[in-house]
Amino acid sequence: MKGIVLAGGLGSRLYPLTKVTNKHLLPVYNEPMIYYSIRTLVNAGISEILIVTGGNNAGDFLKLLGNGSDFGLKHLNYTYQEGEGGIAAALSLAEFFSDNGKIIVILGDNIIEKNIRKAVESFKKQKEGARIMLKEVPDPQRFGVPVFDGDRIVNILEKPSAPPSDYAVTGIYMYDRRVFDFIKMLEPSERGELEITDVNNFYIREGKMEWDILDGWWTDAGTFQSLQCAGNMVAQTGANKLSA
Ligand code: G1P
Repeated sequence: MKGIVLAGGLGSRLYPLTKVTNKHLLPVYNEPMIYYSIRTLVNAGISEILIVTGGNNAGDFLKLLGNGSDFGLKHLNYTYQEGEGGIAAALSLAEFFSDNGKIIVILGDNIIEKNIRKAVESFKKQKEGARIMLKEVPDPQRFGVPVFDGDRIVNILEKPSAPPSDYAVTGIYMYDRRVFDFIKMLEPSERGELEITDVNNFYIREGKMEWDILDGWWTDAGTFQSLQCAGNMVAQTGANKLSA
């Protein structure tokens, strides 16, 4: 299975930190933000990785990451997103890379403490469809939030003012090849973006969405508060290290 790190966008919620650089190059405690998400994929046994970047100083990714030797990789792939069209628009750039196979996607500002190996193994055995990872959070209104009927997810609401559950849909998504057909059917949301939540809802409507609960702590790092929180958590307990 191939992996994709989405590291584009303008990082407008972190302005002026992102005035001259890309959000995913900013420090989270002692490492650049993107290191954590690449490690999440590598620790799950993914060695073919595409970085989708964009915005300011995209060339710095090449300088920072090179061929991925810091992560035990022999090669890294890169592509460039023009403008800012949302997470699903960034993902559409990975179609050529996917070779019609299953993919795992991680948002470059998502940081985890442990690993996702078990969920990835389950997805490899899953015949078709998609798989997401959930985490119980105190502030679900900041995220995509699942609506449950028993233990099935029947809908995901993007940043609902009255969250239907205490879970966030984390930025770790596993998809079969149909994801690129669904992206082509999307309309921009109110914030003018192609939403990954709408992609997930296509799978849910077809009854093809599975889920797991993420082990250990999880945070995004796309706002001042969450960036600081991420730094504190890494400093206090450490985040995912490269496994042997
Ligand atoms: C995005 C997704 C949201 C998800 C979150 C995880 O939000 O739209 O569903 O819960 O990532 O980090 P954004 O960071 O674009 O606000």
